[in-house]
Amino acid sequence: MKLNPDSLSRKENYRLLIGAVLPRPIAFVTTKSKAGVVNAAPFSFYNVLTAEPPLIGISVGRKPDGTPKDTARNGQEIGEFVVHVVDEQNVEAVNVSSIPLPPEESEVEYAGLTEVPSEVVSVPSLAESRIRLECKVESVIPIGGKGGEPAADFLIGRVVHYEVADDLFQDGGIDTEALRPVSRLAGNEYGKYGETFSLDRPTISQNRE
Ligand SMILES: Cc1cc2nc3c(=O)[nH]c(=O)nc-3n(C[C@H](O)[C@H](O)[C@H](O)COP(=O)(O)O)c2cc1C
Repeated sequence: MKLNPDSLSRKENYRLLIGAVLPRPIAFVTTKSKAGVVNAAPFSFYNVLTAEPPLIGISVGRKPDGTPKDTARNGQEIGEFVVHVVDEQNVEAVNVSSIPLPPEESEVEYAGLTEVPSEVVSVPSLAESRIRLECKVESVIPIGGKGGEPAADFLIGRVVHYEVADDLFQDGGIDTEALRPVSRLAGNEYGKYGETFSLDRPTISQNRE
């Protein structure tokens, strides 16, 4: 098939993109509104951007009426958020929390999750995640769209604190087998940590021997 994105609808492009860019990591994000309501929502248009400084980026799609989702608005207004790593233990609660509640209602309560104070930021963390990245907002950039409102708000966060469960911390890194991360695939599909293999990175001298 040869497909021209310009001749496809937003939904058609979306379906091709989520089927082609995968597996995607999931950022389960807490933010806080000006009124103090804690918001939680998952985002899979997410990745690490730089290690020095540690920057991560999340694309928060606009709502159908063109207004920012609570996560983007709160991030902009309060300047802080926390990313929670999604694993086999918490993925069902994460999915429940993706319900679009009005800003005055908290998905944390709705999904039966447990708020705990964060170390560095004022936005609470959730105990159900064993790896948490406390972030300060570096910038919120409106992106995409066709003429009218932008399609999304790109939320860039600087990690100011790592919270890692002791049993997952191994030689300065993370024990992936113990973490058992979950990824997002196409549609409503998720991926578990499966069969893995390693490949040595080639060097110039190896290739020319
Ligand atoms: C696993 C998963 C991944 C998601 N990824 C995204 C995403 O990358 N971008 C997005 O805008 N919405 C995504 N959503 C939908 C949001 O979580 C949903 O719109 C949520 O209600 C937004 O919450 P908020 O309005 O409180 O910010 C995802 C939902 C699920 C369940």
